Amino acid sequence: MLDRLEPQSPDALLALIQMHAADERPDKIDLGVGVYRTDEGATPVFGAIKEAERRLVEDQDSKSYLGPEGDTGFVTALMPYAFGENPTMGGRLAGMQTPGGTGAVRLALALGQKAGLKWLHMGTPSWPNHAQIAQDLALEIAPFNHASDDGTANVEAALDAIRGAGAGEAILLHGCCHNPTGIDYTIEEWEALAEAIAESGIFPIIDIAYQGLGHGIEEDAAGYRRVLDKVPEAFIAYSCDKNFGLYRDRVGAFYMLADSADMLDKAQSNANALARASWSMPPDHGAAAVRLVLRDEKLVQNWRGELTAMRERLRKVRDRLAQSGEAGRLDLAPLGTQNGLFSMLPVSKEEVARLRQEHGIYMAGSGRINVAGLTMGNIDKFIRALADVTG
Ligand code: LMR
Repeated sequence: MLDRLEPQSPDALLALIQMHAADERPDKIDLGVGVYRTDEGATPVFGAIKEAERRLVEDQDSKSYLGPEGDTGFVTALMPYAFGENPTMGGRLAGMQTPGGTGAVRLALALGQKAGLKWLHMGTPSWPNHAQIAQDLALEIAPFNHASDDGTANVEAALDAIRGAGAGEAILLHGCCHNPTGIDYTIEEWEALAEAIAESGIFPIIDIAYQGLGHGIEEDAAGYRRVLDKVPEAFIAYSCDKNFGLYRDRVGAFYMLADSADMLDKAQSNANALARASWSMPPDHGAAAVRLVLRDEKLVQNWRGELTAMRERLRKVRDRLAQSGEAGRLDLAPLGTQNGLFSMLPVSKEEVARLRQEHGIYMAGSGRINVAGLTMGNIDKFIRALADVTG
């Protein structure tokens, strides 16, 4: 039976982790997979999470099963951060815990499909796993250009996709810190999107994986909340992997916005059934730690401080890149106005290979860089290497 399987190539982004680890050059630079790094190149556990974990070890008296919805205290505690002052939107919004943001995206698309979703409109480039999940569910992808040549978001392309959509169609939007371009919609553009979505009836699915890493917790939520304010229904995939540094603990949440409490119950029962058939229950540890952080004022303060320090460091790296202006034929100035961990460089696959082979610099074949991999100690080397391969 297994002989009938076609071999699959490893995920290109995840393969970079191994390639970088095997490189023995001491001055190698990892700009591949999206993890935050300090100026020393480390990805430490948040102090607030460490403290919550200590308390868990002390106080947790059982690891018995929860349920397909996971740690509901975690799910609820996150809602004011994701959705603001009226977190349940009048009893129309509820959620469940998922294994990472990926689990939430998977659930969003699978539940959408169960409700008749056939076409997924998606700005490209996007996080490669978005398309992989959609394809695995045999959904049709309708791509539109996320960005214009001038480096701003191509909101017209998104609006065209929305206005032309019919029944059974959804649009996937990145809540903030667009992966891979770092190019987000302005608040005015979000407003235009919200109105068009409400008018056309296309189903919005919002992926929020980097809240707090762009301009701030509230600032990063302002745009997508405009959409939620205007539409009867939506799905939201949320990841705590980056903004709580819990990558391998797989901490995510899937939220559903419905037109009425009845419809919300129906959506929730279906999401629970899908989760049960997929992973039964999500892993608890990381979500329990986030719950403890969010329920303790002092730990919230610590967490927010750590998140601010991360955001400020990302900004500093971006400013430094932008100030350097040109590197070979590349203009690095636009990186200064982009947000979050990622930006795209217009480099060829050959240039990416040369950066890796000749300079020990690892980045996605698409030209995406994780700016958190740059430090004040390696940024000059990076700029020189870019000038070398593109000059
Ligand atoms: C990334 O885009 O690098 C991250 O979201 C990690 C992942 O799972 O791909």
